[in-house]
Amino acid sequence: MRLLSRKATCNTHGQDSSYFLGWEEYEKNPYDKVKNPNGIIQMGLAENQLSFDLLESWLAKNPDVSGFKRDGKSIFRELALFQDYHGLPLFKKALVDFMAEIRGNKVTFDPNHMVLTAGATSANETLMFCVAEEGDAFLLPTPYYPGFDRDLKWRTGVEIVPIQCTSSNNFRITESALEQAYQDATKRNLRVKGVLVTNPSNPLGTTLSRNEFDLLVDFIKDKETMHLISDEIYSGTVFSSPSFVSVMEILKEMNPNDATKIWNRVHVVYSLSKDLGLPGFRVGAIYSENDAVVAAATKMSSFGLVSSQTQYLLAAMLSDNKFTKKYISENQKRLRRRQRMLVTGLQKAGIKCLKSNAGLFCWVDMRHLLCSNTFEAEMELWKKIVYQVGLNISPGSSCHCSEPGWFRVCFANMSQDTLNVAMKRVKNFVTDSTGAECGSSSVSFTKSFSNWVFRLSSRDHRAPEER
Ligand SMILES: Cc1ncc(COP(=O)(O)O)c(C=O)c1O
Repeated sequence: MRLLSRKATCNTHGQDSSYFLGWEEYEKNPYDKVKNPNGIIQMGLAENQLSFDLLESWLAKNPDVSGFKRDGKSIFRELALFQDYHGLPLFKKALVDFMAEIRGNKVTFDPNHMVLTAGATSANETLMFCVAEEGDAFLLPTPYYPGFDRDLKWRTGVEIVPIQCTSSNNFRITESALEQAYQDATKRNLRVKGVLVTNPSNPLGTTLSRNEFDLLVDFIKDKETMHLISDEIYSGTVFSSPSFVSVMEILKEMNPNDATKIWNRVHVVYSLSKDLGLPGFRVGAIYSENDAVVAAATKMSSFGLVSSQTQYLLAAMLSDNKFTKKYISENQKRLRRRQRMLVTGLQKAGIKCLKSNAGLFCWVDMRHLLCSNTFEAEMELWKKIVYQVGLNISPGSSCHCSEPGWFRVCFANMSQDTLNVAMKRVKNFVTDSTGAECGSSSVSFTKSFSNWVFRLSSRDHRAPEER
Protein backbone atom coordinates (compact mmCIF):
# COMPACT_ATOMS: atom_id res chain seq x y z
CA MET A 1 0.00 0.00 0.00
CA ARG A 2 1.24 3.51 -0.88
CA LEU A 3 1.67 6.28 1.69
CA LEU A 4 0.62 8.95 -0.80
CA SER A 5 -1.74 8.92 -3.74
CA ARG A 6 -0.60 8.43 -7.32
CA LYS A 7 -1.70 11.99 -8.06
CA ALA A 8 0.51 13.38 -5.30
CA THR A 9 3.56 11.50 -6.51
CA CYS A 10 3.12 11.48 -10.28
CA ASN A 11 5.28 13.53 -12.57
CA THR A 12 2.71 15.06 -14.91
CA HIS A 13 2.39 18.45 -13.15
CA GLY A 14 5.09 19.89 -15.41
CA GLN A 15 7.11 21.54 -12.65
CA ASP A 16 10.30 20.07 -14.14
CA SER A 17 9.78 22.20 -17.24
CA SER A 18 12.49 24.76 -18.03
CA TYR A 19 9.66 27.29 -17.78
CA PHE A 20 9.37 26.72 -14.02
CA LEU A 21 13.05 25.85 -13.42
CA GLY A 22 14.01 29.21 -14.91
CA TRP A 23 11.88 30.91 -12.27
CA GLU A 24 13.74 28.94 -9.57
CA GLU A 25 17.09 30.07 -10.94
CA TYR A 26 15.88 33.67 -10.95
CA GLU A 27 14.72 33.37 -7.31
CA LYS A 28 18.23 32.25 -6.28
CA ASN A 29 19.92 35.28 -7.83
CA PRO A 30 17.43 38.08 -8.64
CA TYR A 31 18.69 41.24 -10.33
CA ASP A 32 18.57 44.45 -8.33
CA LYS A 33 20.02 47.64 -9.76
CA VAL A 34 21.76 48.52 -6.47
CA LYS A 35 21.98 45.36 -4.37
CA ASN A 36 22.62 42.75 -7.09
CA PRO A 37 23.44 44.41 -10.43
CA ASN A 38 24.81 41.16 -11.89
CA GLY A 39 21.78 39.11 -10.92
CA ILE A 40 19.30 37.40 -13.25
CA ILE A 41 16.60 39.58 -14.83
CA GLN A 42 13.23 37.86 -14.85
CA MET A 43 11.89 37.89 -18.42
CA GLY A 44 10.03 34.60 -18.12
CA LEU A 45 7.04 35.88 -16.19
CA ALA A 46 3.97 37.20 -18.03
CA GLU A 47 3.03 39.84 -15.50
CA ASN A 48 1.65 43.25 -16.36
CA GLN A 49 3.16 45.85 -14.05
CA LEU A 50 2.83 48.78 -16.44
CA SER A 51 -0.42 50.26 -15.16
CA PHE A 52 -0.36 49.79 -11.41
CA ASP A 53 -0.28 53.57 -10.92
CA LEU A 54 -3.73 53.83 -12.56
CA LEU A 55 -5.19 51.22 -10.20
CA GLU A 56 -3.49 52.80 -7.19
CA SER A 57 -4.74 56.22 -8.06
CA TRP A 58 -8.32 54.89 -8.37
CA LEU A 59 -7.96 53.25 -4.94
CA ALA A 60 -6.66 56.49 -3.42
CA LYS A 61 -9.70 58.33 -4.78
CA ASN A 62 -12.08 55.68 -3.45
CA PRO A 63 -10.90 54.95 0.11
CA ASP A 64 -14.31 53.64 1.19
CA VAL A 65 -13.97 50.69 -1.16
CA SER A 66 -10.68 49.34 0.18
CA GLY A 67 -11.91 50.19 3.71
CA PHE A 68 -14.90 47.88 3.02
CA LYS A 69 -17.50 50.56 3.52
CA ARG A 70 -20.74 51.28 1.67
CA ASP A 71 -22.27 54.75 1.99
CA GLY A 72 -19.80 55.42 4.78
CA LYS A 73 -20.86 52.35 6.82
CA SER A 74 -18.73 49.26 7.35
CA ILE A 75 -19.80 46.14 5.47
CA PHE A 76 -17.01 44.07 6.97
CA ARG A 77 -19.38 41.55 8.58
CA GLU A 78 -21.43 41.14 5.42
CA LEU A 79 -18.30 40.41 3.38
CA ALA A 80 -16.80 38.16 6.04
CA LEU A 81 -19.87 35.92 5.94
CA PHE A 82 -20.68 35.91 2.21
CA GLN A 83 -19.92 32.52 0.66
CA ASP A 84 -22.40 32.02 -2.17
CA TYR A 85 -20.72 30.17 -5.02
CA HIS A 86 -22.80 32.14 -7.52
CA GLY A 87 -20.70 35.21 -6.75
CA LEU A 88 -21.68 38.79 -5.91
CA PRO A 89 -24.22 39.91 -8.55
CA LEU A 90 -22.71 43.40 -8.66
CA PHE A 91 -19.30 41.98 -9.39
CA LYS A 92 -20.49 39.61 -12.11
CA LYS A 93 -22.34 42.46 -13.80
CA ALA A 94 -19.25 44.69 -13.64
CA LEU A 95 -17.04 41.91 -14.99
CA VAL A 96 -19.26 41.09 -17.99
CA ASP A 97 -19.45 44.80 -18.81
CA PHE A 98 -15.66 45.06 -18.62
CA MET A 99 -15.33 42.06 -20.97
CA ALA A 100 -17.77 43.69 -23.40
CA GLU A 101 -15.86 46.99 -23.23
CA ILE A 102 -12.62 45.18 -24.16
CA ARG A 103 -14.45 43.76 -27.18
CA GLY A 104 -15.57 47.22 -28.25
CA ASN A 105 -19.14 46.36 -27.08
CA LYS A 106 -19.62 44.30 -30.22
CA VAL A 107 -20.82 41.48 -27.98
CA THR A 108 -22.49 41.44 -24.60
CA PHE A 109 -22.34 38.82 -21.88
CA ASP A 110 -25.10 37.63 -19.57
CA PRO A 111 -23.90 37.37 -15.93
CA ASN A 112 -26.14 34.31 -15.48
CA HIS A 113 -23.92 32.44 -17.91
CA MET A 114 -20.76 33.26 -16.03
CA VAL A 115 -19.04 31.17 -13.37
CA LEU A 116 -16.39 32.80 -11.19
CA THR A 117 -13.19 30.87 -10.55
CA ALA A 118 -9.86 31.39 -8.79
CA GLY A 119 -8.09 32.62 -11.93
CA ALA A 120 -8.01 31.20 -15.44
CA THR A 121 -6.02 28.26 -14.06
CA SER A 122 -9.07 27.07 -12.21
CA ALA A 123 -11.41 28.01 -15.08
CA ASN A 124 -9.51 25.87 -17.58
CA GLU A 125 -9.30 22.88 -15.26
CA THR A 126 -12.97 23.17 -14.31
CA LEU A 127 -13.95 23.16 -17.98
CA MET A 128 -11.91 20.00 -18.50
CA PHE A 129 -13.76 18.34 -15.60
CA CYS A 130 -17.07 19.46 -17.14
CA VAL A 131 -16.58 18.27 -20.71
CA ALA A 132 -13.98 15.48 -20.73
CA GLU A 133 -13.25 12.17 -19.06
CA GLU A 134 -9.87 10.85 -17.98
CA GLY A 135 -8.14 9.62 -21.14
CA ASP A 136 -10.00 12.01 -23.46
CA ALA A 137 -7.97 14.57 -25.38
CA PHE A 138 -7.98 18.25 -26.28
CA LEU A 139 -6.12 19.53 -29.32
CA LEU A 140 -3.96 22.61 -28.70
CA PRO A 141 -2.04 24.65 -31.29
CA THR A 142 1.69 24.85 -30.54
CA PRO A 143 3.50 26.69 -29.15
CA TYR A 144 1.25 26.87 -26.07
CA TYR A 145 1.34 28.21 -22.49
CA PRO A 146 3.45 25.74 -20.45
CA GLY A 147 1.00 25.90 -17.53
CA PHE A 148 -1.58 24.01 -19.60
CA ASP A 149 0.21 20.72 -18.90
CA ARG A 150 -0.66 21.31 -15.25
CA ASP A 151 -4.04 23.00 -15.68
CA LEU A 152 -5.62 20.75 -18.30
CA LYS A 153 -3.94 17.41 -17.67
CA TRP A 154 -2.59 16.88 -14.21
CA ARG A 155 -5.63 16.34 -11.98
CA THR A 156 -8.15 15.61 -14.72
CA GLY A 157 -6.24 12.88 -16.59
CA VAL A 158 -7.12 14.61 -19.86
CA GLU A 159 -4.44 14.45 -22.57
CA ILE A 160 -3.18 17.30 -24.76
CA VAL A 161 -2.48 16.49 -28.40
CA PRO A 162 -0.51 19.22 -30.19
CA ILE A 163 -1.64 20.89 -33.39
CA GLN A 164 1.85 21.46 -34.78
CA CYS A 165 2.15 25.03 -36.07
CA THR A 166 5.39 26.21 -37.67
CA SER A 167 7.32 29.35 -38.54
CA SER A 168 6.65 28.74 -42.26
CA ASN A 169 3.32 30.60 -41.88
CA ASN A 170 4.05 32.50 -38.64
CA PHE A 171 2.62 29.69 -36.50
CA ARG A 172 -0.90 29.96 -37.87
CA ILE A 173 -3.28 27.01 -37.54
CA THR A 174 -3.76 25.14 -40.80
CA GLU A 175 -6.36 22.61 -41.84
CA SER A 176 -3.72 19.94 -42.39
CA ALA A 177 -2.14 20.50 -38.95
CA LEU A 178 -5.56 20.27 -37.34
CA GLU A 179 -6.37 17.10 -39.23
CA GLN A 180 -2.96 15.62 -38.41
CA ALA A 181 -3.50 16.28 -34.68
CA TYR A 182 -6.88 14.57 -34.87
CA GLN A 183 -5.32 11.55 -36.55
CA ASP A 184 -2.48 11.47 -34.01
CA ALA A 185 -5.06 11.37 -31.22
CA THR A 186 -7.04 8.64 -32.95
CA LYS A 187 -3.87 6.57 -33.39
CA ARG A 188 -3.31 6.87 -29.64
CA ASN A 189 -6.89 5.68 -29.06
CA LEU A 190 -7.82 9.02 -27.52
CA ARG A 191 -11.29 10.43 -27.94
CA VAL A 192 -10.96 14.07 -28.96
CA LYS A 193 -13.31 16.26 -26.92
CA GLY A 194 -12.36 19.53 -28.55
CA VAL A 195 -9.87 22.24 -29.32
CA LEU A 196 -8.54 24.80 -26.88
CA VAL A 197 -7.04 28.01 -28.24
CA THR A 198 -5.50 30.98 -26.49
CA ASN A 199 -6.59 34.17 -28.18
CA PRO A 200 -4.45 36.31 -28.12
CA SER A 201 -1.80 33.62 -28.01
CA ASN A 202 0.60 33.01 -25.20
CA PRO A 203 3.48 32.76 -26.22
CA LEU A 204 3.09 34.23 -29.74
CA GLY A 205 1.52 37.58 -28.82
CA THR A 206 -0.74 37.36 -31.88
CA THR A 207 -4.50 37.23 -32.29
CA LEU A 208 -6.40 34.49 -34.11
CA SER A 209 -7.53 35.38 -37.62
CA ARG A 210 -11.05 34.89 -38.93
CA ASN A 211 -9.65 32.30 -41.29
CA GLU A 212 -8.32 30.27 -38.34
CA PHE A 213 -11.68 30.57 -36.61
CA ASP A 214 -13.41 29.30 -39.77
CA LEU A 215 -11.15 26.25 -39.72
CA LEU A 216 -11.88 25.59 -36.06
CA VAL A 217 -15.62 26.03 -36.45
CA ASP A 218 -15.69 23.77 -39.52
CA PHE A 219 -13.69 21.21 -37.59
CA ILE A 220 -16.04 20.92 -34.60
CA LYS A 221 -19.32 21.77 -36.35
CA ASP A 222 -20.40 18.27 -37.26
CA LYS A 223 -18.58 16.48 -34.44
CA GLU A 224 -21.36 16.67 -31.91
CA THR A 225 -19.40 15.94 -28.74
CA MET A 226 -16.60 18.37 -29.44
CA HIS A 227 -16.08 21.71 -27.73
CA LEU A 228 -14.20 24.88 -28.63
CA ILE A 229 -12.62 26.61 -25.65
CA SER A 230 -11.17 30.06 -26.15
CA ASP A 231 -8.87 31.28 -23.38
CA GLU A 232 -9.15 35.06 -23.80
CA ILE A 233 -7.08 36.04 -20.77
CA TYR A 234 -5.00 38.47 -22.90
CA SER A 235 -7.97 40.06 -24.71
CA GLY A 236 -7.35 43.50 -23.15
CA THR A 237 -3.67 43.54 -24.12
CA VAL A 238 -4.22 43.94 -27.89
CA PHE A 239 -2.21 47.08 -28.60
CA SER A 240 -2.17 47.29 -32.37
CA SER A 241 -3.95 46.02 -35.44
CA PRO A 242 -5.40 43.63 -36.35
CA SER A 243 -7.88 44.18 -33.54
CA PHE A 244 -9.09 41.45 -31.26
CA VAL A 245 -11.96 39.22 -32.40
CA SER A 246 -13.51 37.13 -29.65
CA VAL A 247 -14.98 33.73 -30.38
CA MET A 248 -18.28 35.20 -29.14
CA GLU A 249 -18.18 37.71 -31.99
CA ILE A 250 -17.57 34.89 -34.45
CA LEU A 251 -20.59 33.04 -33.03
CA LYS A 252 -22.75 36.15 -33.33
CA GLU A 253 -21.79 36.74 -36.95
CA MET A 254 -22.08 33.13 -38.05
CA ASN A 255 -24.87 31.91 -40.27
CA PRO A 256 -27.71 30.81 -37.95
CA ASN A 257 -27.59 27.16 -39.09
CA ASP A 258 -23.97 26.78 -38.09
CA ALA A 259 -24.39 28.85 -34.94
CA THR A 260 -27.25 26.59 -33.79
CA LYS A 261 -24.98 23.60 -34.17
CA ILE A 262 -22.19 24.89 -31.97
CA TRP A 263 -23.36 27.68 -29.65
CA ASN A 264 -23.63 25.38 -26.62
CA ARG A 265 -20.21 23.86 -27.29
CA VAL A 266 -18.26 27.12 -27.25
CA HIS A 267 -16.82 28.37 -23.95
CA VAL A 268 -14.71 31.38 -23.03
CA VAL A 269 -12.14 31.57 -20.25
CA TYR A 270 -11.21 34.92 -18.79
CA SER A 271 -9.25 36.36 -15.87
CA LEU A 272 -8.07 39.67 -14.49
CA SER A 273 -4.50 38.41 -14.07
CA LYS A 274 -3.19 40.00 -17.28
CA ASP A 275 -5.51 42.79 -18.44
CA LEU A 276 -5.69 44.33 -14.97
CA GLY A 277 -2.36 42.92 -13.80
CA LEU A 278 -3.83 41.21 -10.74
CA PRO A 279 -2.71 37.57 -10.72
CA GLY A 280 -2.48 37.69 -6.92
CA PHE A 281 -6.20 38.48 -6.61
CA ARG A 282 -7.11 35.15 -8.26
CA VAL A 283 -10.08 36.31 -10.30
CA GLY A 284 -11.16 34.26 -13.29
CA ALA A 285 -14.31 33.20 -15.06
CA ILE A 286 -15.90 30.70 -17.39
CA TYR A 287 -18.46 32.05 -19.83
CA SER A 288 -20.74 29.59 -21.57
CA GLU A 289 -24.20 29.58 -23.13
CA ASN A 290 -24.52 25.94 -22.13
CA ASP A 291 -26.71 25.77 -19.00
CA ALA A 292 -25.49 22.31 -18.04
CA VAL A 293 -21.85 23.42 -18.20
CA VAL A 294 -22.66 26.55 -16.20
CA ALA A 295 -24.52 24.51 -13.55
CA ALA A 296 -21.75 21.91 -13.23
CA ALA A 297 -18.97 24.52 -13.21
CA THR A 298 -20.84 26.54 -10.57
CA LYS A 299 -20.95 23.50 -8.28
CA MET A 300 -17.28 22.81 -8.94
CA SER A 301 -16.37 26.42 -8.23
CA SER A 302 -16.69 25.62 -4.50
CA PHE A 303 -13.09 24.44 -4.82
CA GLY A 304 -11.80 27.76 -6.07
CA LEU A 305 -14.01 30.69 -5.15
CA VAL A 306 -13.01 34.33 -5.45
CA SER A 307 -13.00 35.89 -1.97
CA SER A 308 -15.87 38.26 -1.24
CA GLN A 309 -13.69 41.27 -0.33
CA THR A 310 -11.92 40.93 -3.68
CA GLN A 311 -15.26 40.79 -5.49
CA TYR A 312 -16.50 43.81 -3.58
CA LEU A 313 -13.44 45.90 -4.35
CA LEU A 314 -13.36 44.98 -8.03
CA ALA A 315 -17.13 45.41 -8.43
CA ALA A 316 -16.69 49.05 -7.46
CA MET A 317 -13.61 49.58 -9.62
CA LEU A 318 -15.00 47.90 -12.76
CA SER A 319 -18.38 49.62 -12.40
CA ASP A 320 -16.60 52.94 -12.88
CA ASN A 321 -16.95 53.06 -16.68
CA LYS A 322 -14.98 56.24 -17.08
CA PHE A 323 -12.08 54.61 -15.27
CA THR A 324 -12.23 51.28 -17.16
CA LYS A 325 -12.33 52.98 -20.57
CA LYS A 326 -9.31 55.10 -19.72
CA TYR A 327 -7.48 52.19 -18.13
CA ILE A 328 -7.96 49.89 -21.13
CA SER A 329 -6.70 52.42 -23.66
CA GLU A 330 -3.80 53.73 -21.53
CA ASN A 331 -2.68 50.20 -20.66
CA GLN A 332 -2.66 49.24 -24.33
CA LYS A 333 -0.65 52.34 -25.18
CA ARG A 334 1.96 51.47 -22.55
CA LEU A 335 2.15 47.85 -23.71
CA ARG A 336 2.66 48.98 -27.31
CA ARG A 337 5.53 51.27 -26.24
CA ARG A 338 7.15 48.50 -24.23
CA GLN A 339 6.84 45.96 -27.00
CA ARG A 340 8.57 48.44 -29.35
CA MET A 341 11.39 48.86 -26.86
CA LEU A 342 11.97 45.12 -26.73
CA VAL A 343 11.67 44.63 -30.49
CA THR A 344 14.11 47.46 -31.31
CA GLY A 345 16.49 46.45 -28.51
CA LEU A 346 16.69 42.92 -29.87
CA GLN A 347 16.93 44.20 -33.42
CA LYS A 348 20.11 46.09 -32.46
CA ALA A 349 21.55 42.73 -31.46
CA GLY A 350 20.49 41.22 -34.79
CA ILE A 351 17.58 39.28 -33.26
CA LYS A 352 14.11 39.28 -34.78
CA CYS A 353 10.71 38.82 -33.17
CA LEU A 354 7.54 37.39 -34.65
CA LYS A 355 5.33 40.35 -35.58
CA SER A 356 2.92 40.68 -32.67
CA ASN A 357 -0.07 42.84 -31.75
CA ALA A 358 -0.87 41.68 -28.21
CA GLY A 359 0.36 40.13 -25.00
CA LEU A 360 3.04 40.80 -22.46
CA PHE A 361 5.84 39.07 -24.40
CA CYS A 362 7.43 38.57 -27.78
CA TRP A 363 8.16 35.32 -29.55
CA VAL A 364 11.82 35.68 -30.36
CA ASP A 365 13.76 33.96 -33.13
CA MET A 366 17.24 32.93 -31.95
CA ARG A 367 17.69 30.10 -34.40
CA HIS A 368 20.81 31.72 -35.81
CA LEU A 369 22.43 31.55 -32.37
CA LEU A 370 22.02 27.77 -32.04
CA CYS A 371 25.03 25.52 -32.51
CA SER A 372 22.85 22.99 -34.29
CA ASN A 373 19.23 22.73 -35.26
CA THR A 374 18.28 20.63 -32.23
CA PHE A 375 16.47 21.04 -28.94
CA GLU A 376 19.71 20.10 -27.15
CA ALA A 377 21.29 23.18 -28.75
CA GLU A 378 18.29 25.25 -27.66
CA MET A 379 18.89 24.12 -24.07
CA GLU A 380 22.59 24.89 -24.38
CA LEU A 381 21.79 28.42 -25.57
CA TRP A 382 19.15 28.86 -22.90
CA LYS A 383 21.56 27.91 -20.11
CA LYS A 384 24.07 30.44 -21.45
CA ILE A 385 21.37 33.11 -21.51
CA VAL A 386 20.31 32.34 -17.94
CA TYR A 387 23.81 32.03 -16.42
CA GLN A 388 26.13 34.09 -18.60
CA VAL A 389 23.80 36.81 -19.84
CA GLY A 390 21.67 36.79 -16.69
CA LEU A 391 18.23 36.71 -18.28
CA ASN A 392 15.52 34.19 -17.55
CA ILE A 393 13.56 33.69 -20.75
CA SER A 394 11.41 30.70 -21.71
CA PRO A 395 12.70 28.23 -24.30
CA GLY A 396 10.28 27.30 -27.07
CA SER A 397 10.55 23.65 -26.08
CA SER A 398 8.84 24.49 -22.76
CA CYS A 399 5.93 25.77 -24.88
CA HIS A 400 6.02 22.56 -26.96
CA CYS A 401 7.22 24.43 -30.04
CA SER A 402 8.08 22.00 -32.84
CA GLU A 403 11.13 24.01 -34.01
CA PRO A 404 14.24 24.68 -31.90
CA GLY A 405 15.55 28.20 -31.41
CA TRP A 406 12.46 30.18 -30.42
CA PHE A 407 12.11 31.85 -27.02
CA ARG A 408 9.36 33.75 -25.20
CA VAL A 409 10.64 37.02 -23.76
CA CYS A 410 8.41 39.06 -21.42
CA PHE A 411 8.54 42.85 -21.35
CA ALA A 412 5.87 44.12 -18.95
CA ASN A 413 7.05 42.80 -15.58
CA MET A 414 9.98 45.16 -15.07
CA SER A 415 10.94 48.82 -15.18
CA GLN A 416 12.10 50.53 -18.35
CA ASP A 417 15.59 50.81 -16.84
CA THR A 418 15.75 47.08 -16.23
CA LEU A 419 14.62 46.37 -19.78
CA ASN A 420 17.44 48.63 -21.02
CA VAL A 421 19.96 46.70 -18.92
CA ALA A 422 18.60 43.45 -20.37
CA MET A 423 18.94 44.74 -23.94
CA LYS A 424 22.55 45.83 -23.29
CA ARG A 425 23.35 42.38 -21.96
CA VAL A 426 21.84 40.71 -25.04
CA LYS A 427 23.78 43.00 -27.38
CA ASN A 428 27.07 42.27 -25.56
CA PHE A 429 26.37 38.55 -25.58
CA VAL A 430 25.67 38.41 -29.30
CA THR A 431 28.75 40.54 -30.10
CA ASP A 432 31.01 38.47 -27.84
CA SER A 433 29.70 35.12 -28.97
CA THR A 434 30.43 35.59 -32.66
CA GLY A 435 32.64 32.65 -33.51
CA ALA A 436 32.32 31.20 -30.00
CA GLU A 437 32.85 27.49 -29.71
CA CYS A 438 29.78 25.34 -29.50
CA GLY A 439 29.35 22.61 -26.93
CA SER A 440 32.09 24.03 -24.71
CA SER A 441 30.05 26.24 -22.47
CA SER A 442 31.98 27.09 -19.32
CA VAL A 443 28.75 27.41 -17.40
CA SER A 444 28.65 25.49 -14.13
CA PHE A 445 25.14 24.19 -13.67
CA THR A 446 23.31 23.87 -10.43
CA LYS A 447 21.98 20.48 -9.35
CA SER A 448 18.52 20.87 -10.83
CA PHE A 449 19.99 21.20 -14.31
CA SER A 450 22.14 18.10 -14.12
CA ASN A 451 19.19 15.76 -14.63
CA TRP A 452 17.52 17.95 -17.17
CA VAL A 453 14.11 16.96 -18.43
CA PHE A 454 12.85 18.10 -21.81
CA ARG A 455 9.19 18.90 -21.93
CA LEU A 456 8.76 17.31 -25.31
CA SER A 457 7.67 14.11 -23.57
CA SER A 458 6.73 11.59 -26.20
CA ARG A 459 8.14 13.58 -29.12
CA ASP A 460 11.36 13.21 -31.02
CA HIS A 461 13.85 15.80 -29.78
CA ARG A 462 15.38 16.45 -33.17
CA ALA A 463 14.20 19.28 -35.37
CA PRO A 464 11.55 18.28 -37.94
CA GLU A 465 13.88 18.42 -40.91
CA GLU A 466 16.42 16.16 -39.19
CA ARG A 467 13.93 13.39 -38.44
C1 LIG B 1 -3.01 31.47 -21.59
C2 LIG B 1 -3.07 31.48 -20.10
N1 LIG B 1 -4.12 30.89 -19.49
C3 LIG B 1 -4.20 30.87 -18.15
C4 LIG B 1 -3.24 31.44 -17.35
C5 LIG B 1 -3.39 31.40 -15.85
O1 LIG B 1 -3.85 32.63 -15.38
P1 LIG B 1 -4.42 32.92 -13.93
O2 LIG B 1 -3.36 33.69 -13.20
O3 LIG B 1 -5.64 33.75 -14.12
O4 LIG B 1 -4.73 31.62 -13.29
C6 LIG B 1 -2.14 32.08 -17.94
C7 LIG B 1 -1.09 32.68 -17.12
O5 LIG B 1 -0.01 33.00 -17.55
C8 LIG B 1 -2.06 32.10 -19.35
O6 LIG B 1 -1.05 32.69 -19.99
